[in-house]
Amino acid sequence: MKLTKEEQEILDGKQGETKAKIMRTLVEFGDLFGAEEFVDVTTSGHLVTSFGIGLLKPVYRIMDEIIDAGLKTPYPFTMDPRPIDYENVKCGLLNKLIFSKIMYSKQKLYEEQLSKIGLKDKNAFTCTCYLPEVGNTPKYGDILSWAESSAVVYANSVLGARCNRNSGMLDIFGALLGKVPKFGLLTDEGRRANWVIEVKTSSLPEAQILGSAIGMKVMEEVPFVKGLDKFLGNEINDEVVSYLKDFGAATASNGAVGLYHIENLTPEAKKYGEKIINKNAKTYVIDDEELERVYKSYPVMWKNKNAKPSLCFIGCPHLTYNQLIQWTHKIEEELKKNDRKKVKVRTIMTSAPDVVLKFSKTEEYQKLKSFGVNISSICPLMYTNNPIAGGKPIITNSNKLRTYSKSRYYKDDDIVKIICGGK
Ligand code: F3S
Repeated sequence: MKLTKEEQEILDGKQGETKAKIMRTLVEFGDLFGAEEFVDVTTSGHLVTSFGIGLLKPVYRIMDEIIDAGLKTPYPFTMDPRPIDYENVKCGLLNKLIFSKIMYSKQKLYEEQLSKIGLKDKNAFTCTCYLPEVGNTPKYGDILSWAESSAVVYANSVLGARCNRNSGMLDIFGALLGKVPKFGLLTDEGRRANWVIEVKTSSLPEAQILGSAIGMKVMEEVPFVKGLDKFLGNEINDEVVSYLKDFGAATASNGAVGLYHIENLTPEAKKYGEKIINKNAKTYVIDDEELERVYKSYPVMWKNKNAKPSLCFIGCPHLTYNQLIQWTHKIEEELKKNDRKKVKVRTIMTSAPDVVLKFSKTEEYQKLKSFGVNISSICPLMYTNNPIAGGKPIITNSNKLRTYSKSRYYKDDDIVKIICGGK
């Protein structure tokens, strides 16, 4: 990489040994991916490593070194969701012991360390930092140092910001230094589409299955999706935000997509039209049959495949305010049909702390609580990712949670029937 005079001085240790180590790491990262220069980070960071797992000892050591060196991020940063919430997601004594003494034994220490280097506030823990209620919403053209895959793909695609799919720790290094190596999705070339996806379904596809199908097909490449604007329209409204959030998370987890374009809808597709598609782009046609094929291909990882579900997670990525309202109405309707007052399967909905705060002032919030549904801001994956919780028959409408855990995926309409005691 070619460095400016100031960057070279940092690398040479003129601004301290810790900053030099951070710079060296980022230079090596850039060299590895063919970057020729750095670009300045223009807005707040968002960090993926939100869990104080005891085994991550080097992380706490590095954090101490950063604090001792007096380094802080120029902008306050947000974090992925916390792994535990004993108040709203109750668990047995053994599970609690495993969580607090073994798995997440360093949570408190880690959060104290984060506060010292620029953490926004106690409500900063969510993977949907870009929602207006949370406020870490990049503008078109902003350069980011983020790593959470669902947030990166949203920021790139829906907001038109620029960010690579970084890893944990590289996100904090870029945020601290205020610079990231320029390659991949930070370049005009890297943002061009090399796949054309033709959506030919009879109705709006389930976001989580469409995203999964595209992710598994294109992997880390950039798809240009045609035919979806017919259902979603041409404006990014609340409904579209929710849809694209879930769609993107599925592309990013079932594949490794960091950016997608939706014809006539997302900013770069609107600005450049088909000019953003590479000449030799491949084509993938998705119709009702193809979606059903993908849905049916998901393996059931439960020990007893016919077990009755004991827990349901809705909200991975965290639900928007609009989704919380809509889910309340869906559950209300289904409970009425089944002549029930409460859900039959223990259900937890997850959303950002600031979104939950807004939702808690509504009539729907009271209703949802009265249905026996709990609302939390944890990361369901962190909760399920242990031998005790992970062995239970958990259901979800999240394709990301399905991919990274043993949870079983159901479509929205099926999941509401299951949790409300229907057939
Ligand atoms: Fe968010 Fe955790 Fe799912 S970070 S996307 S709730 S795995």
